[in-house]
Amino acid sequence: MSIKSFASLTLLVWLFTATPSLAQSNQYVLDTNGERVDSDDEYYIRPAITDNGGRFTLINRNGSCPLYVGLENTDTPQGYPVKFTPFAHNNNDDDDDIRVNRDLRVTFDEVSTTCINSNEWRVGENDTRSGRRLIITGRDNTTGSYGNYFRIVETQNASIYNIEWCPTEVCPTCRFICGTGGILRENGRILFALDGTPLPVVFQKKED
Ligand SMILES: *[C@@H]1O[C@H](CO)[C@@H](O)[C@H](O)[C@H]1NC(C)=O
Ligand SMILES: *[C@@H]1O[C@H](CO)[C@@H](O)[C@H](O)[C@H]1NC(C)=O
Ligand SMILES: *[C@@H]1O[C@H](CO)[C@@H](O)[C@H](O)[C@H]1NC(C)=O
Ligand SMILES: *[C@@H]1O[C@H](CO)[C@@H](O)[C@H](O)[C@H]1NC(C)=O
Repeated sequence: MSIKSFASLTLLVWLFTATPSLAQSNQYVLDTNGERVDSDDEYYIRPAITDNGGRFTLINRNGSCPLYVGLENTDTPQGYPVKFTPFAHNNNDDDDDIRVNRDLRVTFDEVSTTCINSNEWRVGENDTRSGRRLIITGRDNTTGSYGNYFRIVETQNASIYNIEWCPTEVCPTCRFICGTGGILRENGRILFALDGTPLPVVFQKKED
């Protein structure tokens, strides 16, 4: 075999092995019952390990808007369910199932607050004290609304996930400083923020 044909064979093998990772993921996100997470249902997000706080909720950090995404603790006892809205629909339009590694919006859709903005999750400012980007709520009305698109990524444990900000499905050519969500403790509150230790979470379906 000549060097040239060996090289093209190597390229071919590389193409075949590389292609699956370029394809969009078809892995379903599963809830705590082992059922597929659906865009029509509401889910409480909880840490997989309970001593990291309770269900996800809205935190009034500063007596003003916007509200922050955080976790229940003794001072903020009420968690709210979220709805997931995929950026791109799957080939089958009847398919409402949520998949891993795909961009989606996350919304506390049941809550009404005094803040005029929506309850969609959004990447907020880089907090000067912690050097981490906090997650706030509100519509990102800049081009692409990149700040509103999160994704659910798998961990090594089944039905346990991380939440990431890396909207490369919305903008494949953008160079984002991607980050994974974790907790940030501040004055007895538990905020959700990127750029720290990732928080493993589970999705618990809200029963009607
Ligand atoms: C709280 O709000 C005040 C006034 O709006 C602002 O000056 C201050 O920086 C805010 N603090 C935090 C931690 O966001
Ligand atoms: C946030 O700020 C910290 C320190 O101020 C810096 O190290 C970090 O790179 C910043 N993060 C982003 C995403 O810009
Ligand atoms: C975008 O949002 C800001 C504040 O949330 C608002 O002041 C501005 O008018 C909005 N722009 C558009 C085009 O909606
Ligand atoms: C994931 O599984 C490993 C062992 O398989 C276990 O040690 C770890 O605690 C699990 N993580 C979570 C978040 O449950």
